[in-house]
Amino acid sequence: MSRRPGATAPTAEGAWAALATVRGRQDPYPLYEAIRSEGQAVRIGPGKLVVVGYEECDRALRDTRLHVQDAARYDAGTPGWREHSSLRAFTSSMLYSNPPDHTRLRTVAGFAFTPPRIRELRSAIEEMTERLLDRMAALGTAGSAVDLIAEFASRLPVAVISTMLGFPEQDQVWFREMASAIAVSTDGFRDAAALERADRAMDEMTAYFAHLADRRRRDPHDDLVTHLVRTHDDDPERLGHDELMGTLMVLLTAGFETTSFLIGHGALLALEQPVLAERLRTEPDFVTGYVEEILRFEPPVHVTSRWAAADTELAGTAVPAGTRLTLILAAANRDARRFADPGRFDPDRSGNRPLSFGAGGHFCLGAPLARLEAQIALPRLFARFPGLAATEPPLYRDRWVVRGLDTFPVAVTA
Ligand code: HEM
Repeated sequence: MSRRPGATAPTAEGAWAALATVRGRQDPYPLYEAIRSEGQAVRIGPGKLVVVGYEECDRALRDTRLHVQDAARYDAGTPGWREHSSLRAFTSSMLYSNPPDHTRLRTVAGFAFTPPRIRELRSAIEEMTERLLDRMAALGTAGSAVDLIAEFASRLPVAVISTMLGFPEQDQVWFREMASAIAVSTDGFRDAAALERADRAMDEMTAYFAHLADRRRRDPHDDLVTHLVRTHDDDPERLGHDELMGTLMVLLTAGFETTSFLIGHGALLALEQPVLAERLRTEPDFVTGYVEEILRFEPPVHVTSRWAAADTELAGTAVPAGTRLTLILAAANRDARRFADPGRFDPDRSGNRPLSFGAGGHFCLGAPLARLEAQIALPRLFARFPGLAATEPPLYRDRWVVRGLDTFPVAVTA
């Protein structure tokens, strides 16, 4: 790591390099501050801008001249990417598309994620939560440790999205394994073996989706898969075959680990400060601010990227066409110009609007759903297990883009 002579903090360039290491990823926040010490948008290497400021990230996300990496862009800059099915499938989804395709793809699925539609799911999510808590109680009866992530935080999001899409319940454990393997493809090209596993998982999932789509053609249900298959069959111009697969894939995977990490962090922070657990149990309105502050303080998505399709500028810095921008949302959420005392976890913070779900055209489609799941799961968890306690320190998954707890063993002594 390169350091300035006599200084203890790395340079922005050194901090950037450290983010690619296991050690750097374990605690990236000091590295974000090292980048910030050289500016809110720092040029690192030719044609590369790393953005850590809140206002700068917000503006970049809303700037229509800054595009997401789509298939054409991969073709131009990443030879061989089409050999990886895990990358190919995502480029047929809204997340990796720019207008006009993006607008079309987002509209096709968007109707199911509006705040009123999501509010209708409340009682179903409450029931799923209770069932999972029953299961945790059964697993922990003999005093044995239960992994909060594997048994609760990751099961709830998969159960919820599977129900919306219309996936059979018995396939959910398999989905979690596949979705975890696939998620690596969004974390860059660093690990060739992991990318290969992601490709294999993607192939299996695509075959599964194709089979399910055929079943729904023959036997339609009142679910999102049936709706999407019908949209494709009625008008393939509106939703092509690969786009149907890409949409299913992104809906299943985008909200799984992210929401699981949100719930995992929410549980960890409340166990570290028991007063928070007590407030979750006793103050019904407390959870709204609590979830927003977890999102700010420990966002499940640390970083996203854009590239400049045309010349633009960002807070006075010229951004020539072709520049690649890395937008560190987790650093923006700790920008002292926007958040007072940003390193302090404060669920009573007013005007808390973190960038954890992005902003602009690609603003997270599932934000109302993720919020609702966490708002239900966390108070229920602490109400059901007032004696909840960590039996070992949690372990972070070694990833940077989507970051959170891999395992968190707890005792559920009621
Ligand atoms: C705490 C949980 C979640 C976090 C932190 C999160 C974060 C994000 C972020 C930052 C983006 C924007 C990426 C960008 O602009 O480059 C995004 C997009 C997206 N998210 Fe989420 N997400 C979460 C949960 C969900 C859930 C539950 C779903 C759906 C089931 C979902 C579906 C999507 C989709 C479809 C997009 C793409 C939107 C578009 O490109 O127009 N997310 N998410």
